[in-house]
Parts: sequence; C-alpha cells; structure tokens
Amino acid sequence: MISKIFIALLAIVSAAPFRDSYENGRLEKRLDNGLGKTPALGWNGWNQGQCNAATASTALNTAKAFVSLGLKDLGYLYVNIDDCWASKARDSAGNLVPDPAKWPNGIKAVTDQIHDMGLKMGLYGDAGRETCGGYPGSQGHEVQDGKTLASWGVDYWKYDNCYTGTGFNNAGANTSTYYPTMRDSLLNSGRPIFFSMCQWGRDNVWIWGGSVGNSWRMSDDIQNNWGSVASIAAKAATIAQYAAPGGFNDLDMMQLGNGKLSGNEERAHFGLWAIAKSPIIMGTDMTKLATSTLEIIKNKGILSIHQDPLGKAATTFQPSGAAAPSGSSLYPYWAGPLSDGIVIGLIAVDKAGNYSVNFSDVPGLGNGSFSWAEFYSGKTANGTSASFELGLHDMAVIKVNKSAV
Ligand code: GAL
Repeated sequence: MISKIFIALLAIVSAAPFRDSYENGRLEKRLDNGLGKTPALGWNGWNQGQCNAATASTALNTAKAFVSLGLKDLGYLYVNIDDCWASKARDSAGNLVPDPAKWPNGIKAVTDQIHDMGLKMGLYGDAGRETCGGYPGSQGHEVQDGKTLASWGVDYWKYDNCYTGTGFNNAGANTSTYYPTMRDSLLNSGRPIFFSMCQWGRDNVWIWGGSVGNSWRMSDDIQNNWGSVASIAAKAATIAQYAAPGGFNDLDMMQLGNGKLSGNEERAHFGLWAIAKSPIIMGTDMTKLATSTLEIIKNKGILSIHQDPLGKAATTFQPSGAAAPSGSSLYPYWAGPLSDGIVIGLIAVDKAGNYSVNFSDVPGLGNGSFSWAEFYSGKTANGTSASFELGLHDMAVIKVNKSAV
C-alpha cells in the first residue's frame, strides 16, 4: 500500500509541467510539458492561402508532400491549420464544430491519417470572443475547447489574440493575464498539446512566455518581403536570451516559396530563423515547391543547428572595427552557442561583397585555429578566420568546432 502511494506520488512529481530555470537571469518556472525541446518544424496554411487553406484536403496534401519530399525524415512534423477551419457557431452544447464543407469527415479523421503517416496535426484558435477571421473564440470555453482538441488528437494549438479587449486588436487587455488559462486547459486536457502563443509580441511576452507557452510570436505578422524578414530578425537579436528548450521566440511563419524573396533572401530568411531558434513553419504550397527552395529547407547542416539540443539562440556580436548593432536594423554579424560548437551567421545586409569573420572576435571562441564548415556552400577548412563572397542579402551559416586545432 505504502509503495503504491509512493509510486503515485512519484508519478505526480515527475509529471510536473514546470521546471526551475535561470534562463532569464532570474529564477522562474518554465513550462515543461515535454514538447518543443527544440523549435517546431512544420507547415501552416495561412501564408499560403489564408482562409482558403484551412481544409482537410490541404492538410492531407501537405502531409503527403512532407513524406514524399523527404521532409518528414528531416524532422518536419507539424501540419498546422490556421483560421477559418470552424463553423461560425458552436453546437448546442457549446462545442467547436469543424466547417462540414471543409472537413467532410470531421477533424479526427484527418488527425488519424496524419498520425498514421508519422506526422502531427495543429489547429488554430483565439483567446478572445472571436478569431481574427470572425470564427468562435475560446474566451469562457477554454476548458471545454482543450478537451475537444484532445478528443480530436490535436498536437499543436496556435492561440491568437483578436477580440480579447476592446475591438479587433485587443486594446486594453493584458495578455499575460489570460494566456495562462489556455495553458492550464491544455495541461489538463489529457493529451500533450504544444502551446503556440500568438499575441504579436505584446506585453514583453519574451520575459514571461517561457512559463506559459512552447513558443511566442514576438512581432506583428510577417509580410512577404525582405524588409519584413530583416526587421523581425533584427528585433529577435535583442531577445535571444529568452529562448531555451521548451520555449522559443517565434519569428512567425516562413515566406519561402511565395514568389517575392530572391534566392539569396530565402537562404538568409531560413538561416536567420534557424540560428535564432525560431519555429520554422513553412507557409507555402508544399506540393509546388521550387527545387531551389526545397534545397534550402532540406539543408541538413542548418537543420542540425536549428535542432541542436542546447536550444540557445544566436544574437549579434560586434567585430573589432565594425559599427555597433542597433537592434532596429539587421546586423551582418551573428553568433551563438551549440552543444558541440559555435554557430556564426554572416549576412550581406546592405551590399554584395566579401564578408569575413576573425574567430578571435566571436564570443565563445578566441585565439587559435579552428575547424569550420559553411552549410550553404559546403566549404570546410581550418584557420583563424573565414571569409565568403556573398550576393546582396545572402547569408553564410558557419559551424565552428569549439576546440582549437
Ligand atoms: C493573425 C495572426 C496570423 C494569422 C491570422 C489569422 O492575428 O498573427 O498569423 O493567424 O491572424 O486570422
């Protein structure tokens, strides 16, 4: 009897959904729901087709593409549906209902198929009265909705912030007071569900987000242009210290494949999101990817940086003789720790040319000769520095072995 009680107690303790952490330089309880130990990898329909992509057939076609393109084997697991998947009204018991025209066999039939393919399924909701697109929000229904998601086999819940306060964009509402309600509902839902907070970087979410979600958007919506990519990345450099296993800054969904970024810009977008440890959630039609885009997102070296178990985000460093980073515009020099080395990012921010780095300038390295590899070119060497010819907005992603040779 005593041993049974002891085992039961042990089970409760070991399932505690929080862990003590000093990641922010002070003691805090970070969410520890067993998910998001490394940043999420997957797809979401919003950047591809907004409401039009919130259908069973789009989810299943994406899942099939993940398998046939070899992306699943590289770790792309989440197939996430965004706004507009639901019917406009809840049922008489107050439950969310999938739109029957978009989900003829319901959600569960789709999650079952996605799970059978070895993948995971995500859905979208909102903390307010309505989603941004005018579908039912979870305000006042948090517990019920968490149970519904679990019963459907949902693995990932993106939680938006419209109509929480006055009007569309939550004026007057403090997100830190109501996002934990859905966290607790998911924790008690009976299923591990990744909690993706989408409150657009309000209320300094990076400071408290680690105790609430597995990721938190840190900016307004990404746009399909280089300026938007660059400004989000510049801001991410200022909050890199808040990323840690189980909870990461979310720089928003990818714009690769959507026809506006050059090849150089697609490489930099992917490389920056990888070294900043943002979720990499593709936002384009995965059945129509250009070979050049596919090659970028299948880069094994860069994916290994993104999925490194240390889970620390890179930030900017100032080489001797260079102007200081400003935080508001993209800076060319980035570095961060890995479990087995250091990652350096060089970005041709303003002009094409020769970009070089002396390892003695890089935090975590120092004087001496190091072996390194650059993942887009495949170049490897030993030395005290590395340099690359980069076209405008292109990026070099370099992994340096920590022990000098
Ligand atoms: C925004 C959100 C976008 C997308 C959209 C759907 O608030 O930031 O990522 O989900 O709502 O309506």
